Amino acid sequence: MIKQAIIPLAGLGTRLLPLTSIFAKELLPINGKPGLEYIIDECIEAGIKEIIFIISNKKIMIKNYFNNDVFFKKIIKKKKDKRISDEYKKILKYKKMIKFVYQNNPRGTGDAVLKTKKFIKDNYFLMLLPDDLIIKKNCSKAMISIHKKYKSSVMASMNVHKKSVSRWGIYNIKKKINNQNFIIKDVVEKPSIKNAPSNKAVIGRYILPKIIFKKLSRQKAGKGGEIHITDAIQSLIKNDQKFIAHNFSGKYLDCGTMDGYIKSSLEMAKL
Ligand code: G1P
Repeated sequence: MIKQAIIPLAGLGTRLLPLTSIFAKELLPINGKPGLEYIIDECIEAGIKEIIFIISNKKIMIKNYFNNDVFFKKIIKKKKDKRISDEYKKILKYKKMIKFVYQNNPRGTGDAVLKTKKFIKDNYFLMLLPDDLIIKKNCSKAMISIHKKYKSSVMASMNVHKKSVSRWGIYNIKKKINNQNFIIKDVVEKPSIKNAPSNKAVIGRYILPKIIFKKLSRQKAGKGGEIHITDAIQSLIKNDQKFIAHNFSGKYLDCGTMDGYIKSSLEMAKL
């Protein structure tokens, strides 16, 4: 069973400036609710019991948001407002399942994952990248079922336009399991169009094996001087670890760019 999830939250969010100059991008509201709460709700519905947030000193606002129960209590005492009281209960529920670790010097997603090493108990855990919202179908839940069935690591995926391959981790297929699930042959972080093995992109949901920490502790910086989770995954694949790419059925919303963020709010409003 997958019971723990990790969420890297130390990124600066420069693609969303000026909104992020003093505000954490993951707390920006999407149709009246912080983006991060959609991600937490996805985890809870998928059966996750503990979530580890990887934050930085600059993102302390995220910790404050989930630890502000004293303030809520004061307000509720003064005025009996059902909406505020329900929100308080929800935040309290979140607080109970969240742990915080720090990545004060953001050196990539692989480095962020490594910070959670001490806390991971089981052989597999879930990672969600908060820029990627998937609506209409719980992608994490679907991936956990696949993991149970095939006893392997799983990554969410979708086909992207050939012109945009350098924005993503791109993989090619070793073997087709069925129309939605594929065993991965190779995965490469943000390749040029010329070097891309396909137009199949990795999206921000991963079920990773605990043994990835061993790879990460020795992982050298890759593209852009960052330590990429993609490079550690490729290294595990080369050691015969099975990784399945799952073409999810939900709708993908990119909340990490200004254009995508605006579109996401409009899409959420339609639900
Ligand atoms: C990260 C991963 C990349 C993946 C993408 C999905 O990139 O490194 O492999 O395709 O998330 O959103 P980032 O968005 O951090 O640049």
